[in-house]
Formats: sequence, C-alpha cells, structure tokens
Amino acid sequence: MLAGRAGARHLVLASRSGARTDEAKAAIARLEAEGVAVTVKAVDVTDRVALESLFAGFGSELPPLRGVIHAAVVFDDGLLRNMEKASLDRVLAPKLLGALNLHELTASLELDFFVLYSSVTTFFGNPGQANYVAANAYLEALARKRRSAGLPGLYVAWGAIDDVGFLARNEEIKEALQSRMGSEALTSTEALKMLQLLLAQDCAGAAVMDFSWRDMQRLMPSAQAPKFDLLRRLDARHGDDEEDSDDIRTLIVGMAPEQVTEMVSGMLCDEIAQILRLPTEKIDINQSVLELGMDSLMGVELALAIEGRFGVSMPAMALSQGPTITRITERIVAQLCHEDDAGAGDTATQAAGQVARMAERHASTFSEEEAQRIAAALEKGSSDVRLVQ
Ligand SMILES: NC(=O)c1ccc[n+]([C@@H]2O[C@H](COP(=O)([O-])OP(=O)(O)OC[C@H]3O[C@@H](n4cnc5c(N)ncnc54)[C@H](OP(=O)(O)O)[C@@H]3O)[C@@H](O)[C@H]2O)c1
Repeated sequence: MLAGRAGARHLVLASRSGARTDEAKAAIARLEAEGVAVTVKAVDVTDRVALESLFAGFGSELPPLRGVIHAAVVFDDGLLRNMEKASLDRVLAPKLLGALNLHELTASLELDFFVLYSSVTTFFGNPGQANYVAANAYLEALARKRRSAGLPGLYVAWGAIDDVGFLARNEEIKEALQSRMGSEALTSTEALKMLQLLLAQDCAGAAVMDFSWRDMQRLMPSAQAPKFDLLRRLDARHGDDEEDSDDIRTLIVGMAPEQVTEMVSGMLCDEIAQILRLPTEKIDINQSVLELGMDSLMGVELALAIEGRFGVSMPAMALSQGPTITRITERIVAQLCHEDDAGAGDTATQAAGQVARMAERHASTFSEEEAQRIAAALEKGSSDVRLVQ
C-alpha cells in the first residue's frame, strides 16, 4: 500500500509474517536508501478486524492512503477431481476475501490506484491450478466492477516473472510453465515498466507476457479457443504478408485500371467480411465501414490487413472516418498504380507518384498549403520538391 502526502513516498507492506526473510529485509533496506519510508505490518489480509485496525492508522500515525497493490497469494496445486474444499479455501481466501476486504475498506477513500495482481493462467488455463485460476478470475472481475463504479481499478495478468517471487524460488515449476506455454519469463524491471505504462494509460487490465504465439498454439490446446481468433488471424497474415503484397504487384502488371479496381475491391470485401464475421455477399461496397459495424479496434485490424495484402499503408485514422469500401479501394489502387508508374516513368511522374503517395499516407494531416506548394513546384517542373516525412 502506498501512503503519503504531496510528494512524500511511504510504503506500507502488509503480509502475515512481516519482513521475515533476508531477501525481504535487503529489499526494504534498498528502498529506504532511495528515500522511501517503509512500514512493515504483520497483517493477514483475510482478517477483517486486523485490517481495520491497520486502516485506522492511515491519516494519523501513518500518512493518508494513496493507493493499493494486492499481490497476496498462496498456492496449493492439484487436479480438480482430487481438490479438497480446504485447498480451495486456502488459495481463494488471500485473493478473493483479501481483495474484497481492501475494496470495502477503501470505498470512501480517494485513491490514485488500486492494482490487483492476477496471472495469464486466467487467459489460457493451467492444469492443476483450478483454484488459483478461479481466484485470479475474481480479481479481474473486481477490477472491472470498481471501474464501473467510478473507482480506480487495474488488474495485471502476469506471465512468469524470472527474478523475484514464487517462480524465482521454484526454478523447476518456472521451467515447466515456460515450456508448456512457449514463453520467456519477464524480468521484474520489465514487469514494473509495464505496470507503470498501464497505470499511466488508465488501463482496465491486461495480460503481460513475452511469448511466441506459434509455440503457444502448438503447446496449449486452449489457444484454439475462439477468443484468440484475432491473434490467429494476425499471425497467419504476418506469415503470408510479404508474399501477398509481392503477388499483387506482379498480378496487376498490364491490367486495365478497372480490372485492378475490381480485384482490389473483391479482396477488400473478403478482408472486411472476415473482420466483421459476415458473409462476403452481405458487404455493400457503397456503405461506410462504420455503418457496416466496424469499430476502432477492427479499423486497426483492417489497416494491418491492407498493409499485409496490398503492401500499401492506410492510416487507421482515415478508416475511423468511415469511408466506403469504394473509397478505400480507390486509395489502395491509387497507391498501387502510382508506385507502378513511378518505377517506369520519368522524374516528374515519379515525383507526382511520390506526392500522391504522401497525400494518401497523410490524408488527415497534409496541410492544404503544403499540397499547393508541392503542386506548384511540380507544375514549374522544379527539381526542388522536398517531401518531409
Ligand atoms: N511470480 C510470478 O511469476 C507470478 C506470475 C503470475 C502472477 N503472479 C502474481 O503476482 C502476485 C505475487 O506473486 P509472488 O510470486 O510475488 O508471490 P510470493 O513471492 O509467494 O509472495 C506472496 C506474498 O503474499 C503474502 N500473503 C499470502 N497470504 C497472505 C495473507 N492472507 N495476508 C497477507 N499476505 C499474504 C505472503 O507473505 P506471508 O506468507 O508472510 O503472508 C507473500 O509475501 C500474486 O498475486 C501472483 O498470483 C506472480
């Protein structure tokens, strides 16, 4: 828990045993050397009365409470069919009851943050950890509930962490987990940087891990779940991207512009249908992509798909303005054809092609004045046409 008044940093560390180990004592000494005041309390987070008494100290013997990080955990792995109620209780209590106590006791306080440490096992599952996954799923739900009530809330579903914590003390479990998930463990420095970023962006929650999606698909049956469709599609495209955009350039050589337009429009409809999960025949090329049901995340997906399939860049910002498929097609064809011309034509044509491409790329930011300056220079046949990217 972080307490303090304007600028002062005061860390209150609460666990059942307090600072018992040499490792904990050394970490506290490092913090104090950096000017952080540290108070260690031996409090069980599931013990409401003990926690109330700790909270009574904030604003009196301790500075006011500014934020909470809940990281308490107890493990008791085992197959679900053999799991006793006691094992469930042992693992659920520090997360579920502990977080609920902190949530309720801070309800009337104005906190800057309330962070709940979860685990990527809520995204992929993990054999033998049904109790742990359930406990973490509760924390993620609590973060969402807090935010919907206007309170700060962030959950971070961490992947394995290399140098501190449970897995650092249990090397074999860490290695087994990494090879099962095809992932690399994060360092605590990387993890804390991500935490900082998520807090700065006022994010609701995120899974943070370093992993190979291809390995994960091979190793984890749960990676086939429909919720990972987007990752699968992006990965498949990434592999085929270069081939696709080279193919298209070869294909359009010698084609009439109308044929290029028809082909691009068809391919675009397929991409959009896939993103919107609609049959292609339901896609009307004269309707705005927003009317078709595309949201901003899907817009980013479409921008990536366009870059992958056609090798041309399309700002997601331009897509968020709701162009029709006909209009997007025109922009893609303009870029494809101008690039083609630029390869073969004279200097003026190459410059014109460059201007067109720049205008396409920066449609939302290209100032009128700049466009006029370039056009005028081109008209005069000036060789001093500089495009600043
Ligand atoms: N380490 C990783 O690779 C990793 C990966 C994914 C997620 N996470 C999450 O990150 C968090 C921290 O994990 P960690 O590896 O740092 O675990 P850890 O080293 O085992 O630390 C857990 C802490 O929880 C405290 N605790 C347990 N029960 C408590 C209770 N009832 N009341 C108060 N404190 C209690 C323990 O102290 P006492 O025993 O003295 O109470 C201990 O200090 C957990 O939420 C975990 O799920 C960690």
